[in-house]
Amino acid sequence: MKKLIKNGTVVTATDTYKAEILIEEGKISAIGQNLPSQGAEIVDAKGCFVFPGGIDPHTHLDMPFGGTITKDDFETGTVAAAFGGTTTIIDFCLTNKGVPLKDSIQAWHDKSKGKAVIDYGFHLMIGEMNESVLEQLQSVINDEGITSFKVFMAYKNVLQADDETLFRTLVAAKELGALVMIHGENGDVIDYLTKKALAEGKTDPIYHALTRPPEVEGEATGRAATLTGLAGSQLYVVHVSCADAVEKITEARNKGFDVWGETCPQYLVLDQTYLERPNFEGAKYVWSPPLREKWNQDVLWNALKTGQLQTIGSDQCSFDFNGQKELGRGDFTKIPNGGPIIEDRLSILFSEGVKKGRISLHQFVDITSTRVAKLFGLFPKKGTIAVGADADIVIFEPNIKRTISAETHHMAVDYSAFEGMEVTGEPVSVLVRGEFVIKDKAFVGNPGSGQYVKRAKYGSELSSDQDEKLTI
Ligand code: URP
Ligand code: ZN
Ligand code: ZN
Repeated sequence: MKKLIKNGTVVTATDTYKAEILIEEGKISAIGQNLPSQGAEIVDAKGCFVFPGGIDPHTHLDMPFGGTITKDDFETGTVAAAFGGTTTIIDFCLTNKGVPLKDSIQAWHDKSKGKAVIDYGFHLMIGEMNESVLEQLQSVINDEGITSFKVFMAYKNVLQADDETLFRTLVAAKELGALVMIHGENGDVIDYLTKKALAEGKTDPIYHALTRPPEVEGEATGRAATLTGLAGSQLYVVHVSCADAVEKITEARNKGFDVWGETCPQYLVLDQTYLERPNFEGAKYVWSPPLREKWNQDVLWNALKTGQLQTIGSDQCSFDFNGQKELGRGDFTKIPNGGPIIEDRLSILFSEGVKKGRISLHQFVDITSTRVAKLFGLFPKKGTIAVGADADIVIFEPNIKRTISAETHHMAVDYSAFEGMEVTGEPVSVLVRGEFVIKDKAFVGNPGSGQYVKRAKYGSELSSDQDEKLTI
């Protein structure tokens, strides 16, 4: 149905202005003043910002990990994402050595189809690189529209790939037009430190952080950046948690390497002391890389402000405290790694970032939406408010205060990583391709209404459904 958003303040990555937005057939058809309202549902955005829908580049829904399966699936996870102002996610499709890539991708389609309430795409994990995988990547890109590949440098004997695999993936990505993503931690060193800690009887959650010190993140990030420069390729470092990794990214960017970095809300507002909480509560905060000493938060905020880090992902990977995190009582290595973050990504960045003057309103839009769309082949179909773009829109009340709590969140998990934190600013209504998913803070969407999005190649700023491209 036709809709006309009135009285709001439109904010993009570059501009802020008062305007009406006309939505027809799922797309923005006009932006201006006194637009024709005949036959349109009027949406009053008075007192609100009108943002492009958030794009979360880093989620793990319905994923087997750490001896269990993440609690949020494509239904609960995307409902929670929508409440938080996210209209598109890119989830990580895991693969297994020797299994055709199309089978792994089909498994992820099976998990998401009929469940997602917002749009979604997939990144593909690369665990091995050989002639057969190389051949299959053509179709992964051209048929599936998956244009980003993830290499895990940690999780030894589970997901970890070796340097040859990373390098060959970088070379292939350059050739094929894909973006290589890394989990940047040195898994071999972590494996040694972990075994040593356990042998010394150090089993509490805090040892998760102490056996994965910032140096192992900095080292792996620096190594991947160097290999990227050597391959002349492109790299996106996920979940940057500390100064050591920021330094390596900055160093690479200063050399002109095509290296990008993402941080997550948890690293911006929580710190390592959370893992010391009594009664095994520290397990709630076990994820990788671990939370760091508090001073790293300033470095991360500053890197977002100065553009050394460009995006924010949730790294949503949720497990209940009861029954799932508890698997690691008496052995921190058995605590499933990950946290419930998908719902709070925009609120935390707005409240702690924009409201506290650490980043501008335009940076907020760029970091949560526009830059993600550009890096991952979704722009300009998604990631901005412009005529012709999908009407993925968040109507956001900037002054409302609320307290984050598991009692009120929409994720399926039994705790909140941000329990008790007061935030200012909240999405009131959220539209995906012109349809309300959240209306006046109530869920009105439909499982299965979210569409799979094929993405354009890295470096292309025109989305795949546009057939004409101007070149310079
Ligand atoms: O602990 C985490 N981050 N769990 C999800 C998997 C990953 O490493 O991103
Ligand atoms: Zn990771
Ligand atoms: Zn992750």
